[in-house]
Amino acid sequence: MAQTQKLEGHAAVGMTTTQSPFIENAKNEGQLYIEQPYDLYSEENHAAWRQLYDRMLPQWKKYANPHFLRGIDNLCLDPQKVPRLDDVNKFLCSLTGFKAKAVSGYVPAFTFFDCLRQRDFPTTITIRDASKLDYLPEPDIFHDIAGHVPMHTDKAFADTLVRFGECAHTAAEIAASIRDHDEKIRRLTSVIKAMARFFWFTIEFGLMTGRDGLKAYGSGLLSSFGELEHSLTSPVVQRYPIQIEWVVNQYFEIDHYQPLLFTVESFDHLFSLVDKLEIWMKDGKLDNVSPGEPGVGEADLQSFLDAHK
Ligand SMILES: [Fe+2]
Repeated sequence: MAQTQKLEGHAAVGMTTTQSPFIENAKNEGQLYIEQPYDLYSEENHAAWRQLYDRMLPQWKKYANPHFLRGIDNLCLDPQKVPRLDDVNKFLCSLTGFKAKAVSGYVPAFTFFDCLRQRDFPTTITIRDASKLDYLPEPDIFHDIAGHVPMHTDKAFADTLVRFGECAHTAAEIAASIRDHDEKIRRLTSVIKAMARFFWFTIEFGLMTGRDGLKAYGSGLLSSFGELEHSLTSPVVQRYPIQIEWVVNQYFEIDHYQPLLFTVESFDHLFSLVDKLEIWMKDGKLDNVSPGEPGVGEADLQSFLDAHK
């Protein structure tokens, strides 16, 4: 009750990204996993969802892979309103066991991957400002629920995410076995960088070959009105069959359309690549990946160090 009263005054500002007192409060109190305070979404928040969904739908039909389109149908998302996570989970959980789990903000790398292993998907619940629909450096509920979650309805894709979470455990175990502290940090930093790059070029920005040509399965593409079409039709984008040795050494920048994308043949193919990533990790082949983006933060490193003490 006290929590409800405290939040009443915040209802007018809603759940807009970077402007939500509810989220700031949760962060200040150190709460990572939170409830979705559905009544706090304002009319503007629902209008933002409606506009984002409306303009993406025709793009998805043209450029999204068939697994994603089936996922959109299976989730029965309401095009008019920000979804309730409980409603999404009723459909999602019965298909693959995955659940969208509301979080207040950044989830350290190991924690994030370990959630995937447990079939929980850390989900941002704020939504971008209705007056700035095109570019958002941070994830929002449209990216997470409309971009990621439809893919989680596919069994082979869901199993691949779980496998990726298992790789994070392998990385933490290997790090725990290294005695010299500086060497442990150096190698772990390189391995986390390799995992982040692999995740970026597949789960976030992956393309897939198929009977109907090249389609997108990466959530960063599927939640971006401008970049989805650009990724598949622009002559300036380089698109190559995925190679682990390239992906783990390839830096990326997040603030512009991706100039380089990689294709997989199927989700079974993607799963086999995650297996290979783990073998490479065990063989020490990820210990010296090329420097550059993404940076590996203190919280990311610590999350791996804390996993296997
Ligand atoms: Fe994402």
